[in-house]
Amino acid sequence: MLPYFYKLDTKIISTNLETLFTRIALDHIDKFTEHIDDNGNPDGNSYLYHDDFQTIPEIKEIKKNCSLDFYVLLYMHKPNVTVVKHRDNPKYRKSNIIHPLMPQKDYSPTLFFKTFYDNDFVTCNYENMLPVILNLSHLHSVQNNSHYRINLQFSFKEDFETIVDLYKNKKLFIQ
Ligand SMILES: [Fe+2]
Repeated sequence: MLPYFYKLDTKIISTNLETLFTRIALDHIDKFTEHIDDNGNPDGNSYLYHDDFQTIPEIKEIKKNCSLDFYVLLYMHKPNVTVVKHRDNPKYRKSNIIHPLMPQKDYSPTLFFKTFYDNDFVTCNYENMLPVILNLSHLHSVQNNSHYRINLQFSFKEDFETIVDLYKNKKLFIQ
């Protein structure tokens, strides 16, 4: 599964911070921006970014202990939305760490595809609600269920292999 995603076996953020970001997301559910694809159409992703997210004390501490720079934002998928198969723009990010927040049960997986016309996919489940490093340079999608799907993301400009190597060698987050 290495080329598509890498599951972490421990959480990075505290339960308090998960609760805070879940509350922020729910309190601002109508303030999320729909992401627009290269053809000018909403692609099914919605995001909420605020400079203040970057300076929450626990986030500041994690950033201080991280060997690479990253930015923090919330992602939301509306009930029953289908995310268009896409690769993320490498100018902005090549990989990320996803922290699933809600729903706590039945959190929809991320699906990775080999080609645009190929319907075979590799499934990244979040069964333990633990963080996962995603390779955003591969085609991916979400078919959401009837719940709002909310996660916190740390976005990196470095590619997936770099992030995973650092993480495995305990050099991504230095304590
Ligand atoms: Fe994406």
